[in-house]
Amino acid sequence: MRGLKRAAVLGALTLATVGMQPLTATAATPPVVGGTPAEQGEFPFMVRLSMGCGGALYAKDIVLTAAHCVDGSGDNTSITATAGVVDLESPDAVKVKSTKVLQAPGYNGKGKDWALIKLAKPIDQPTLKIASDDKLNNGEFDIAGWGADKEGGEQQRYLLKAKVPFVSDADCKAAYGDDLTPGEEICAGKIAEGGVDTCQGDSGGPMFRKDDAGEYVQVGIVSWGNGCARPKFPGVYTEVSTFSADIAKAASGL
Ligand code: ARG
Repeated sequence: MRGLKRAAVLGALTLATVGMQPLTATAATPPVVGGTPAEQGEFPFMVRLSMGCGGALYAKDIVLTAAHCVDGSGDNTSITATAGVVDLESPDAVKVKSTKVLQAPGYNGKGKDWALIKLAKPIDQPTLKIASDDKLNNGEFDIAGWGADKEGGEQQRYLLKAKVPFVSDADCKAAYGDDLTPGEEICAGKIAEGGVDTCQGDSGGPMFRKDDAGEYVQVGIVSWGNGCARPKFPGVYTEVSTFSADIAKAASGL
């Protein structure tokens, strides 16, 4: 399971070679897996990163993504963030280079899957607030990304979205055993039927929901899963509330 995450960044072909992702996708898996196109402006905080990951604007000049999407910490001008559009090929796309990366301190491939990317200039789009406690770690979540629309599928030009229900640590542990790090990870998906999930290339993107005031709050970061949208195997997300203080501190020092 651990390998899936790292391999994912390298793309579906690598995964196929590694043999962990059967290419025998079942028919009729509509586009994220089981999703539909997002409206222009619906999730204005969504960012596509050039290494093939997603992210969300934590601040106008800071993207929150997954630790497994980046190589480490330090000065880094190699990443391009694309924002402001659902269509990555739109002439309206805003593209900004990175200046620095901060990978979660202590990240070793298990849990702690978050990272911050500092941008060369601010992007004029709304940011996504992060959950600072576990009150919203339940219910139905929104997911979105330009990743594969099925296992072994291609990256998408247009942003896809879907909704997935919360899965308890107990149910998630039944699927993943000790690969799961409860307290650092939160699971979501349709356990019984599958069919809806994030997938390769969605990593680093946000899982979010509305708070009581109707404002979107980020509760997760796309991290890993066994395949995509398989029954019994939910998606695993970094539990943002666990790391909210660490993220805020890291951001203030970037
Ligand atoms: N690790 C993947 C990536 O790098 C994300 C996989 C999410 N998988 C899932 N079944 N939810 O893009």
